[in-house]
Amino acid sequence: MPARHAPMLIPPPLSLYVHLPWCVRKCPYCDFNSHEFKGGTPPFDAYVDALLADLDQDLPLVWGRTVHSVFFGGGTPSLFPADAIERILQGASSRLRFAPGAEVTLETNPGTAEHGRFEDYRRAGVNRISFGIQTFDDATLRTLGRIHDGAQALSAIALARDAGFDNFNLDLMYALPGQTLAMAEDDVARAIALAPAHISHYQLTLEPNTVFAARPPTGIPDDDLAWDMQERCQAMLAEAGYAQYEVSAYARPGRRCAHNLNYWRFGDYLGIGAGAHGKLTLGSEQTLLRRWKSKHPVAWLAGAGTPASIGGDERIEPARRPFEFMLNALRLVDGFALDDFVATTGLPVSAIDGPLDIAVDRGWLQRNGARIVPTELGRRFTNDVVALFLED
Ligand SMILES: C[S@@+](CC[C@H](N)C(=O)[O-])C[C@H]1O[C@@H](n2cnc3c(N)ncnc32)[C@H](O)[C@@H]1O
Ligand code: SF4
Repeated sequence: MPARHAPMLIPPPLSLYVHLPWCVRKCPYCDFNSHEFKGGTPPFDAYVDALLADLDQDLPLVWGRTVHSVFFGGGTPSLFPADAIERILQGASSRLRFAPGAEVTLETNPGTAEHGRFEDYRRAGVNRISFGIQTFDDATLRTLGRIHDGAQALSAIALARDAGFDNFNLDLMYALPGQTLAMAEDDVARAIALAPAHISHYQLTLEPNTVFAARPPTGIPDDDLAWDMQERCQAMLAEAGYAQYEVSAYARPGRRCAHNLNYWRFGDYLGIGAGAHGKLTLGSEQTLLRRWKSKHPVAWLAGAGTPASIGGDERIEPARRPFEFMLNALRLVDGFALDDFVATTGLPVSAIDGPLDIAVDRGWLQRNGARIVPTELGRRFTNDVVALFLED
């Protein structure tokens, strides 16, 4: 493609991801950058100072831009006291412009919920809570190594609701050890009865380097049963008014997660904290940058705010951009607009004409005016569809 025909990269909306890495106990299925904190309490104040130093270091990459959403992920962000969360939000909003009403989500483990805490989070500026429920079944929660039972999950949700949070998400997992179709349905029915704004419904995966991968628990449902669970739960959610908009995400009207949507639309995000990843459009250089921070909290804390805390910087070369874009966009039920592909990758539509035609021929994608939309078959084989867009 001659350079003079290349479209301009147009910076998409910007989000801020804040990684808070500690947990009370490491769950045996979890491969997130999360660390059991042994003895005493984590160094909350030092971590907040380090986050702001980390942000200062990244600021030149986003001068003048507006933040549309903030996500505190983990780990277990709800281990952090509200004054620490407030200091992070105040520090961030004094350095960056926040869009009015920007979505601010905090991941919460029900085992860390206590009276009064949600009021304080709200005052600090959090306006959305994402609960790690997983299942309401106590025996299965024990197998999953969770620190809470079903009753604690219910009371944590009640506390958040009493504190005025109407925008909350429940994370559920299915295809759990010993789970039957009826049990999976029961979890979804109980979640729906709590009337959350959003439900995430993830199939349990055995991730490398986890306790479950080394010693798989017995009774994990086979692929056919897992598929039945997914289909049945999806239908229950649809009947209850939760529309699926991504592989694992369901929302009531107007309640889709703005932060995750920005990832899936190949938006930009700054990532601060141990192991956090960022992806940024550098308009002046007409390039896309991925930056990640050193992974271990101790190493990251020691170097925060200096180049020592940067795990790596990588430019996303034009030949790789179609694949990276599709990896995200084809997770979305309503696909993507071709104009957005052009703006966020800086490539012309002709760069993907070949693989698009193949995917349409195979019944995986549909051309819907100026949008490309995955078919039901395409959604079942997302990995194969995305692989068509890999560079040769
Ligand atoms: C980073 S965790 C954060 C939530 C919080 N730390 C907790 O666990 O309560 C986000 C969600 O990813 C999901 N998840 C984690 N590991 C998974 C796995 N191996 N397979 C499927 N889903 C997983 C869980 O539903 C979890 O709530
Ligand atoms: S609480 Fe959440 S982040 Fe922590 S180990 Fe368990 S699943 Fe992972």
